[in-house]
Amino acid sequence: MRSTMASFVRSTLAFLVVLLATTTAEVIDLRWDVHVNDAFGPSSSAQPVITINDKFPGPLINSTTNDIVRVNVFNNLDEPLLFTWNGIQQRLNSWQDGVSGTNCAIKPGTNWTYAFVVKDQIGTFTYFPSINYQKLAGGFGPIRVNNRIVINVPFPKPQAEFDLLIGDWSFTDYKTIRSRLEASTEVPDMILINGKAPYGYSTSKPYESVGVTKGKTYRFRVSNVGSTLSFNFRIQNHKMVVVETEGSYTNQITLDSLDVHVGQSYSVLVTADQDDADYYIVATPKMLNTTDDSPLVAKGVLHYTESGSRVSGSLPTGPDPWDIEFSVNQARSIR
Ligand SMILES: *[C@@H]1O[C@H](CO)[C@@H](O)[C@H](O)[C@H]1NC(C)=O
Ligand SMILES: *[C@@H]1O[C@H](CO)[C@@H](O)[C@H](O)[C@H]1NC(C)=O
Ligand SMILES: *[C@@H]1O[C@H](CO)[C@@H](O)[C@H](O)[C@H]1NC(C)=O
Repeated sequence: MRSTMASFVRSTLAFLVVLLATTTAEVIDLRWDVHVNDAFGPSSSAQPVITINDKFPGPLINSTTNDIVRVNVFNNLDEPLLFTWNGIQQRLNSWQDGVSGTNCAIKPGTNWTYAFVVKDQIGTFTYFPSINYQKLAGGFGPIRVNNRIVINVPFPKPQAEFDLLIGDWSFTDYKTIRSRLEASTEVPDMILINGKAPYGYSTSKPYESVGVTKGKTYRFRVSNVGSTLSFNFRIQNHKMVVVETEGSYTNQITLDSLDVHVGQSYSVLVTADQDDADYYIVATPKMLNTTDDSPLVAKGVLHYTESGSRVSGSLPTGPDPWDIEFSVNQARSIR
């Protein structure tokens, strides 16, 4: 009798746990209209850019552990389109992963709904088109998987979070690039931050600017959405604390600069602990010699709300771009 009672209690508890787990998960229903648009390029000349809901980069998928994400994609391109959700584990669900072979592309003029669960995951990820070199033309965007409210996060809640999608960019039409066999050896033209050209590059196009308040701490989710170049990320006069990468919290190390390779994502905490002013956010390519005014040096602005001045001084210096040991040692120190 007692054991029947105990097993009843156990199964009831198990049922309640399952119920609790399923009731806290939300369904995130998204509709994406994917187009090619000539007006979204980072420079003043027209070039085809892949936009989602008229955005480049695409919209944030802001999910929480165990949420169900459903993305109804309308392909308005003139060719097949396939999205991949880089780093989302797709347990028993590999046909939603959006890579050629497990998943058919969406035909032009039709729509298809991806559905997946961000099961037991946290962290910073990106999505992008996985076939036909389309990623060279955009179509990428940020994915956040936030902790459930009941889970302790190993650092204080930041004042705000910013997604910084940084990556190399070419002014050549992506269809032209893919038609050339030597595509992979071409040096890109620029490095963009959130789809925007470097500060000072163009008067007609915006640069990326991030607003912060003195004394507060912010989480930057930095991803390399490029195709060729690794970069070194740093902020003038500010340090950063690495807290998360690729879906795991890390040992918290304080850095002056951070190397991010193609496809990688990191979260760093940055405290606005300097005088009210504007500061450079830069990303310089690895394995290339560049000068500060090169479009291959991405430049954004960290803008303090009370700042009355523009960015000034020289760009923050980083490691020698050819110093592979720096890169390897830094990667080894992050666990
Ligand atoms: C993302 O979702 C979290 C949890 O629901 C919420 O607190 C946060 O404000 C959302 N952020 C954005 C940018 O929508
Ligand atoms: C296409 O979109 C419609 C809504 O506009 C939706 O009802 C339908 O399920 C979608 N088709 C697929 C295959 O996802
Ligand atoms: C890059 O610059 C360094 C130091 O100025 C120089 O030694 C090296 O030859 C340059 N490399 C290339 C590929 O230009």
